[in-house]
Amino acid sequence: MGVICIMENFFIKWFTKCLICVFGITIFLMGETKISFSDKAKNDNHGVFLRNNGEDNDEDDGDDDGNDDDGEDGDDETHNAGKNCLTSGCHSQGKEHHFSIGGTIYTDADGTTERTGAEIKVVDAADNITILRSDGLGNFYAEKNLNAPFTISASYEGREVKMPIPAPDGGCNTGSCHVAGMAGRVFISMNDLDLAGTVTEAGAGSGSAEISYKGDIKAIFDAKCIICHSAEGMKSDVPLTTYPEVTDSRRVIPGSADSLLLKKIDKRSSIGTMWQYLNSNSDYKKIKKWIVKYNAQEYSSGQELSLGKAVPGAEVRLRRDNRDIYKTATDDEGKFVMKAVKAGEYILKISKEGHKTHKQIYQMNQSNVSPLEITMKIKQH
Ligand code: HEC
Repeated sequence: MGVICIMENFFIKWFTKCLICVFGITIFLMGETKISFSDKAKNDNHGVFLRNNGEDNDEDDGDDDGNDDDGEDGDDETHNAGKNCLTSGCHSQGKEHHFSIGGTIYTDADGTTERTGAEIKVVDAADNITILRSDGLGNFYAEKNLNAPFTISASYEGREVKMPIPAPDGGCNTGSCHVAGMAGRVFISMNDLDLAGTVTEAGAGSGSAEISYKGDIKAIFDAKCIICHSAEGMKSDVPLTTYPEVTDSRRVIPGSADSLLLKKIDKRSSIGTMWQYLNSNSDYKKIKKWIVKYNAQEYSSGQELSLGKAVPGAEVRLRRDNRDIYKTATDDEGKFVMKAVKAGEYILKISKEGHKTHKQIYQMNQSNVSPLEITMKIKQH
């Protein structure tokens, strides 16, 4: 048992490292380059990585191929895109040009083409916000002292991708992580994916106080867990995408607070390693009640009867800052498709007369976008 726990911990750490590597920690900047940092202040200088002593190069970063001729010491230009640099050499800890964070961003997961001019937002342990901009080689880095863990997101022309969990340090590229073939490069593509989904009725009993998988629990797992616990995720051996998967007898014992699933999300448990992803007392209480009081039921009583009935003509909206960014409606089979949705965080709102409005946070991604399955509760009068 002890051994298993250690291995699991190790695995989580390894995985977290890998996520960071997605950011392709890579930069070997040899020169006097300095970034202007200021909390929340956006550094709009496109070529911030190329700036040398008093000389501002920010117009020609696109020409930088890393093979410039003045490659002796004091070379101020960006280089070594896609390589690791924080663990050895002149950007490692204690060295003059130490980077507290650095990486490379591309236009696809294979790292075929670098993405220039992307904005990288780094929030450090002290909540300091640092904005970095990728240069002509897709490189970005910070020399300023920043303390991990980092919350990192990257944006480009209205698209925003996020690391799903905080990065424990600013550099990784151990070769087994965020490189092509492993976790993949960090990238922002201009090929926005479609978001499809189906809206069905949760059923008659669903307006009650009862907690059920279909009515309450599935949405929590979909939002917070399946990014890892699904076929494409890193914990694919324990998928949590369907009722049978979630209630597998190894993890859920109906009526029992000793269920492994509950312990994994219990912040006070020694094995509560999944709490950081759930990170909500109310969700924890809901899941606990669902297992202990409602025996991990799939439907509320009566709900099953009308389950699966399509909800046609429901309005489906992706909103941000109180504005509709994308809007469509379900067809006769309750299906909808939103075309070319830019990556980023939205409020998904689905409404239809006579039904409770469905509202959730939705993070649109640039890969592995699985169709949404939404159930709407019927309004009780
Ligand atoms: C960032 C990826 C990631 C996310 C997000 C994530 N998990 Fe995990 N999960 C793992 C990894 C890796 C393990 C194995 C290591 C461990 O148990 O700590 C694991 C293990 C588990 C286990 C134990 C499985 C078993 O049979 O041993 C459960 C249960 C679990 N997770 C539930 C959840 C729930 C519930 C959520 C959402 C609140 C969640 N996880 C979110 C990666 C993740």
